[in-house]
Order: sequence, then structure tokens, then C-alpha cells
Amino acid sequence: MSSDMFDLDGRVAVITGASSGLGVAIAETLASAGARVAVVARRADRLADVAQRIDGVAIARDLSDLEQADSVIPAVVDALGPPEILINAAGSMFTEEKAEAEPRSAIEQTLGLNLIAPFLLAQGAFPHMVAAGRGSIVNISSISGRVGIPGIPQASYAASKAGLSGLTAELAVQWARHSIRVNTVAPGFFRSEITGPLYDSERAAAYLRRNTPLPKEGSAQDIVGAVLWLAGDAGNYVTGQTIVVDGGWTTR
Ligand SMILES: NC(=O)c1ccc[n+]([C@@H]2O[C@H](COP(=O)([O-])OP(=O)(O)OC[C@H]3O[C@@H](n4cnc5c(N)ncnc54)[C@H](OP(=O)(O)O)[C@@H]3O)[C@@H](O)[C@H]2O)c1
Repeated sequence: MSSDMFDLDGRVAVITGASSGLGVAIAETLASAGARVAVVARRADRLADVAQRIDGVAIARDLSDLEQADSVIPAVVDALGPPEILINAAGSMFTEEKAEAEPRSAIEQTLGLNLIAPFLLAQGAFPHMVAAGRGSIVNISSISGRVGIPGIPQASYAASKAGLSGLTAELAVQWARHSIRVNTVAPGFFRSEITGPLYDSERAAAYLRRNTPLPKEGSAQDIVGAVLWLAGDAGNYVTGQTIVVDGGWTTR
């Protein structure tokens, strides 16, 4: 019984940002639970490796280009059939400037990739989920969408991630009658390409350790349980939520 709740038994799942970091771990986990997975990002070679390992399909797209973002779901339908699971994990920071100096181009790029593209993918998936009579969308945001992070300036990034939680609540309410659930997982700090420089600096790594109550460094494997729970039947009465997975960072 308990293992069936986490079985994704042939459901088609789309995972963006699945060429590195958290997205790869999520793709591997959903595939091992039985999903047929389409992995989406820019680096075609990395995607091809992941797709081969999990017997999925690679869809190389630059999601900063919103026309390319719009083309993802039709490509998934052609390759695997209609998606019932969408995980929006692609995201990036485009500036390390303090808020007063963030270039407008970086603000627009951040909102485009981290907020508008996930919205467009959700819109693309919507009619297929309606037809299937069920669907689960999980957005990957960040604790910086919930709390300020001293010492690591990220105003537009924080705004984009907070925006995902607002979008999540609204889509959850609008689409609940179709049994489409929409949730967000907000990671704290995890070692990946985006955070590599932080972990590689002893001073910054000590700051992360000092502020994380649980006595371990977050790894991609620590986020996948929450995503698997929300993606499938184990989470079938959970919608509109932002689930924080941060080793206790935001509870201090
Ligand atoms: N690691 C953390 O501590 C942490 C904390 C909070 C939130 N997050 C969030 O978790 C998600 C995954 O991040 P990560 O830590 O796994 O970082 P990562 O290793 O840098 O992964 C980012 C992923 O997004 C893809 N991506 C970036 N720009 C893209 C674009 N224009 N079009 C399509 N795909 C694009 C990248 O692939 P390509 O380069 O191949 O395009 C890559 O697959 C992000 O949304 C991030 O904001 C991470």
C-alpha cells in the first residue's frame, strides 16, 4: 500500500532544469518510480546522457526564450504523449548586484526564466491534464522567496521565486476542479552548479553551516522526497502549498 502511493506507473512527466543539479536528481527519482520522463534544458549533450540513463527523452530548449518555452509541451506530447506531471526546476540568477544596482535586463531575464516560463509550461500542460482528469505541477522556488538572505544579494531572484508561490496558490484554486494540483517546493541551500562557488569558499560554507540547524550539507537527494510526494498519489490532497526543504534555515 505505502509503496503504491509513490508509484508513477507510466505517467508522462516533464522536468525542466534536468541537465544538472536538483533537476537531474528529480528526473532520476521520478523515472525510478515508473514515470516516462522528458528532460528539458539548454545543454543537449548533458540532457542526452540523462535521458539515456533513465530511458527518457531529451528536449533541448532555452526557456529564457519564451517562444521556445511555449514549444516544450507540444514536443513532449509528440515524443511521449500527454503529460500528467510537470516539474519546473530550471532557474538561474543573472546578477549578483545589490538591489539598487541590478540592471533592468537582468531583472527581466530573471523573471522570464524563473517565473514566466514556468507559467507558460503550466498553461501548455493544462489541457492535457484536464483531458487526463488529473495532473500535478511542482514548481521549484527558493527560501529566498520567503525570507531575506543576508549577505547574498538576490532581489529579482527572490521576487521571481516568491512569484512562483503566488502563482501556485492561484493556479491551485483555479484548476482544482479538474483535479490538477499545483505546489511549490522551496529549497534552502544545496550543493549544485548554481551554489558551487558558495560551497567552495570556506567563509561562505561556514556561514551556511552556522545557519542550518540540521548538521549536514544539503544534497540533491534531500529534495527529491518532497517532489515525489507532491508529484504522485501520496500527495493527492495537497494543493496550493509551498513546502520548505531547508534543513531548518527558515525556522531559526
Ligand atoms: N541549489 C540550491 O541551493 C538551490 C536553492 C534554492 C533554489 N534552487 C533552485 O533549484 C533549481 C535548480 O537549481 P540547481 O541548484 O540544480 O542549479 P543548476 O545545477 O545550475 O541547475 C539549473 C538548471 O536550470 C537549467 N537552465 C538554466 N537556464 C536555463 C535556460 N535559459 N533554459 C533552460 N534551462 C535552463 C540548467 O540547464 P542548462 O544550463 O543546460 O540550460 C540546469 O539544468 C533552480 O530553479 C534554482 O533556482 C536551488
